[in-house]
This record gives sequence, C-alpha cells and structure tokens, in this order.
Amino acid sequence: MELIYRPRRLRGNQVLRKMVRETRMDKSSLVYPMFIIEGTNIKEEIPSMPGQYRYSVDRMEEKLAELCGAGVPAVMLFGIPARKDERGSGAYAEDGVVQKAFRKAKEACPGLYRIGDVCMCEYTSHGHCGLLHGQDVDNDSTLELLARTALSQVQAGADMVAPSDMMDGRVAAIRRLLDQEGYADIPIMSYAVKFASSFYGPFRDAAGSAPAFGDRKSYQMDYHNRREARKEAMLDVQEGADILMVKPALAYGDLIREVKDSTGLPLAAYSVSGEYAMVKAAAQAGMVDETGVLCEMAAGAYRAGADIYITYFAEELAECMDRGLIG
Ligand code: PBG
Repeated sequence: MELIYRPRRLRGNQVLRKMVRETRMDKSSLVYPMFIIEGTNIKEEIPSMPGQYRYSVDRMEEKLAELCGAGVPAVMLFGIPARKDERGSGAYAEDGVVQKAFRKAKEACPGLYRIGDVCMCEYTSHGHCGLLHGQDVDNDSTLELLARTALSQVQAGADMVAPSDMMDGRVAAIRRLLDQEGYADIPIMSYAVKFASSFYGPFRDAAGSAPAFGDRKSYQMDYHNRREARKEAMLDVQEGADILMVKPALAYGDLIREVKDSTGLPLAAYSVSGEYAMVKAAAQAGMVDETGVLCEMAAGAYRAGADIYITYFAEELAECMDRGLIG
C-alpha cells in the first residue's frame, strides 16, 4: 500500500504521543468551588453531589489542607447563611458566613488563593440573584449591593472576586467601589457568559438557592445564543474585567473558543454541579469510567481555549495530572 500520510505513525508510542500533544494543562490552572455553611462542627454531604460537602468554618481547614497537599492552588467560596432575607443582607455582612470563611482560610492556609463568588441568590429569601421589584429582579438597585458584597469579601481576605449574578453593569460597579476603597489591585473574574442552565440543579440543592418563583431567564443568558455571548464578553472587557468566564463548560466548548478568540483575555470555564453529578451517577451505576470521563471533559474545556478550569473534580484531576493520565 502506497500511503504518503500515515497519521498513526505519531500514535504508536506513549512518549511520542505526549511529545506531539496539542493541549497542555497543569494543576496551576485548577480552582475548587467549596460550600461554607453557618454553624459549628458541620461536614455534611450534599445529596445530589456525592463526595462534595458543606463545611462549617471550623471544619473547612481539613479540606483546605487536603487541597494544598494535592497541589490545587485556588478555592472559590460560596456561603450558605443561617438566615435569608429579602435584601440578601448576609451577602455583605461583615460577620457573614463567607466573610468568616475568608478570614479563616487566610489564617489557616495563606498560600491558597481565595476567590469570592459574588451573588445574592444564596442570601435572599426569594432565591433570586438581586433585589425584587414586584416579580422582577431590579438591575440598577442590585448593583450597589453587589459592589458592597465584593468589598466585604475583599476586606475579609478574598484575593479575587467573581460576580455571578448577571446584572448589567456589575463589573463597573464593583471595580469603582474597590478602587475607591484602595483595592485597585484586586482582580475581577467575571461570569461574563453565564447561561440559564438546568446543569445548576445540584448547586441550588447544595446552597438552598432555587428561586422561590419563576426562573433566572430574565438575567441569565439564553443557551441558543452565540453572538450575544460575544456581546456580554465585550461589555465586561470594557467595564474592566480581568478574567472572563464561560459557564457551564460541558456543551459550551464553542463559546469558550469564541470568547477566547474574540477578547484575548484569560478565560475560565466552570464545570458546574450538574456536570459533576452526572459523572458521579453514571459511574456509580457502572455505566462509565469516572476517571476517564472527568479527564476527557477537562481536556475538552482546555482544548476549547480555557486557561482556568473550575471544577468539583479539582483534586481528582490534580492526581490524574500527577499520574500522567492527562496533562
Ligand atoms: C450563583 C451561582 C450559581 C452557580 C455559581 N454561582 C447558581 C445559579 O446561578 O443558579 C452554579 C454553580 C454550579 O452549578 O456548580 N448565582
């Protein structure tokens, strides 16, 4: 057989396969999302996310140490307050649960990079991501509270803030307040391209943040849209975002690529709770190989253009990278 091109030539040996590998990834790009609940001595498993827990501030240290040991460099913290109210006041309380968690994390594991998710939905009694006017989430009056939330997290020790609410103009509002208060060096990672997604189901279980009525479609994006993804990303660039995010990751690889190429900013992809839950459920039912699938999903996000990968599988992935399964 006279064949000029034999692509298999480069696949015949593991050393060679790795040499010509096109997507390289390492642990320095991993972020682990973590739920912190008000109370003491709590480590409770989240039913829809087997292997993931809600920790009280006094119990979070064990997990932080584990992450450091595994070489995961960063955490993103979500707070679950004891009480929720109309205005989500727990989100920007000086002694709020996530603020206490930042202080604790800074003291317990100073080398671990701390990112704050900035949103109202875990703190509002109605579960929406902002202030209500009637049945609607009011954009402009929410901005001030988001900025206060971001500032309170930074004052408590967050190294970076990540607004996930999808209000228009929140990046500019947060930037302005942080700058005014002397935090010009704190970066903003914007959930710029965040879709109204059924993949967030287990997270809302974990945080008790499902909307009490309606849905989030009046502020989170319609998943049919690609041009709009570019628009949202560009607006956040103009408002001063330092890093952009696409969320979810699975099923959104095209948009990871689109945003990366059209903005040139560092890009994060968030593999969300539903992605984790699906892999766990299928693996537990013996239907797929968990390690194989989580590696493949991660490689897919990086190949699409992600620089940062936010995942509940961060520790497992770090281990896979150590073992040379991916990387
Ligand atoms: C807060 C927020 C959500 C997630 C991250 N930040 C929930 C939502 O928008 O309903 C989802 C993360 C996940 O599903 O893992 N707004």
